[in-house]
Amino acid sequence: MFFTPGTHLQAGLSHNPLKAIVSPRPIGWISSRGNDGSVNLAPYSYFNAIAEQPPMVMFSSAPGGETAKDSLRNVLETKEFVVNIVSATLGDAMNISSGSFPYGTNEFTKAGLDMANGETVSVPRVKAAPAALECHLWRAIDLPASTDGAASTIVLGTVTGIHIADDVIVNGKVDVTIYQPLARLGYMDYAQITKLFEMQRPAG
Ligand SMILES: Cc1cc2nc3c(=O)[nH]c(=O)nc-3n(C[C@H](O)[C@H](O)[C@H](O)COP(=O)(O)O)c2cc1C
Repeated sequence: MFFTPGTHLQAGLSHNPLKAIVSPRPIGWISSRGNDGSVNLAPYSYFNAIAEQPPMVMFSSAPGGETAKDSLRNVLETKEFVVNIVSATLGDAMNISSGSFPYGTNEFTKAGLDMANGETVSVPRVKAAPAALECHLWRAIDLPASTDGAASTIVLGTVTGIHIADDVIVNGKVDVTIYQPLARLGYMDYAQITKLFEMQRPAG
């Protein structure tokens, strides 16, 4: 099968398969704070780590209708955000926090989550998250607009602080079987890690 973007229905696919093709994806559970002091939390699976030296991450915000999504608005206002990692046990809370709430709604409260203070940012993190990356905005870039004129924006951030829960560290390494990061697949599907294997890179 071959089709061009926007023609999946004509190709016989009931849903746009892009997210299923590029899967599994990590979920960046983004906490942020606005200029008015309000706190926000929402999941973004167009998210990834993109560099190690210095450590950098990105997430992409789809057009939110008339105005930017709250996370993007806050990051542009205060230039800070935190990427919280969603463990499998936090899946329901993550899903609740993805609801469309009016600007200024604290999704930590909506989802029954405790906040913990940041070390290098004024943004709180999810206390129960197995890891959190404190970030400063490096650049926000508007992507090309679609035919309806709406554009996504990618946020690129530099990691300035790293939290890891002590109980996921085994012999100096993050044990992913304990860490259990939830992965986003296509459609409404998610995955948990149940099996690991190692591959050594070729020498030379
Ligand atoms: C698992 C998951 C991943 C999501 N990923 C994205 C994403 O990458 N980009 C995006 O714009 N919205 C994404 N969403 C939708 C946002 O979380 C949703 O629009 C939310 O209300 C945005 O909140 P905010 O306005 O407080 O930032 C995702 C939702 C879920 C449940």
